[in-house]
Amino acid sequence: MTAYEIITAKRDGKELTKDQIEFMVNGFTDESIPAYQVSSWLMAIFLNGMNHEEMHFYTQAMLHSGEVVDLSEIAGVKVDKHSTGGVGDKVSIILAPIAAAAGVPVPMISGRGLGHTGGTLDKLESIPGFRIDYDIAEYKEIIKEMGVCLIGQTSTIAPADKKLYALRDVTATVQSIPLICGSIMSKKLAEGIDALVLDVKTGHGAFMQDYNKAIDLAKNLINIGEKGGKKTVAFLTNMDEPLGFAVGNWLEIKECIDCLKGKGPADLMELTHQLCGAMIWLGEETKTLEEGIEVSKRMVQSGKAWKKFLEIVERQEGSTDVLHHPETYPKAKYTKPLIAQSAGCIKEINSLEVGLSAVSLGAGRIQWDDKIDPKAGIVLHKKVGDEVLEGEELMTIFTDKPGEIDSVLERLEKAVQISNERPGPKKLIYKFLDKSSLS
Ligand code: URA
Repeated sequence: MTAYEIITAKRDGKELTKDQIEFMVNGFTDESIPAYQVSSWLMAIFLNGMNHEEMHFYTQAMLHSGEVVDLSEIAGVKVDKHSTGGVGDKVSIILAPIAAAAGVPVPMISGRGLGHTGGTLDKLESIPGFRIDYDIAEYKEIIKEMGVCLIGQTSTIAPADKKLYALRDVTATVQSIPLICGSIMSKKLAEGIDALVLDVKTGHGAFMQDYNKAIDLAKNLINIGEKGGKKTVAFLTNMDEPLGFAVGNWLEIKECIDCLKGKGPADLMELTHQLCGAMIWLGEETKTLEEGIEVSKRMVQSGKAWKKFLEIVERQEGSTDVLHHPETYPKAKYTKPLIAQSAGCIKEINSLEVGLSAVSLGAGRIQWDDKIDPKAGIVLHKKVGDEVLEGEELMTIFTDKPGEIDSVLERLEKAVQISNERPGPKKLIYKFLDKSSLS
């Protein structure tokens, strides 16, 4: 078997065997196949796709390139949630303590910001002292003790994905359904879960902007999860406008505090309770999804979820002082409002543009080794459907980079559309899918 033959087969639209896929993934991981050949193979997959069997073999090869965590010694049905990436999407940080407070063990290995989307790890790290770099033995200990642990991908979890992802990032092969499925699911299958809730985003700020492609992605993710022996469900959700009001790491943690204290924005809480309700249901704490949603709401109303969050932060060595007194957190040097140039109703707030603006202000990375500024970002004052007067503040930007302010305000002005007509209601949650949706 040679890499050349396998690249040729995929280039010509042929189905690859399990052995051929393993040969490429393992060869790249152990550096016996050079990056230029793997790049060419990735592009052939990008152009010609993979069928269900190939995707399953690809995911399994990535999964077994590293450690597969066994959490069977921990009682209960272990459930995680994964989002395909969005703007202002801080749902993981709100729902992990809610689900854990409801009795569902949550093993959560999260990622960093990618392109215009934010990452759970960057947000958590904006809490002074919060550690996300525990090894697998400590991760297990913390889940046993707390019912939840929030960490980053270790060097032993799906190392093939880490290498392949970096290569995809520079070879224009990120937006490929088989490659996204293998990347996400190899990491999720490795973390020790029994069940998985997926939030597959579609719309301006999603990686899969097209609705039908997002459905295709959701179905393939479910298929791989189920084939891997995990109960997997997905919600197809709207990422046209940012979720909630805050975009940027510490700004989002501040919003999470409000959410856990029962004062969260309507859209963010609707999505959180839906996804968390599904976790509670799959975790067998309730018989139905609807009951799961009710339990999720009760955990917030009773204060149990907020208490759990404080316990998690303390256990993972973060400061709870700033959570009790967010006003003491360092402030960005520059704060500027975006002012409405006309009166009307907000028709659109383009989340891709808001996400890219937040990155320019310092909330994300342009180069892979850029340092994140936890204080940087954007706070919206209006959402789609709200009325606005000429001269009113639409958003506030926060940054330590004065050179970015004018261009970001210009970009944000184009991202907001104000109309004379009220836009029709838009759904936040389009669709629920599970294995019965695959036929
Ligand atoms: N998130 C991942 O982990 N991998 C992808 O390929 C896309 C989003």
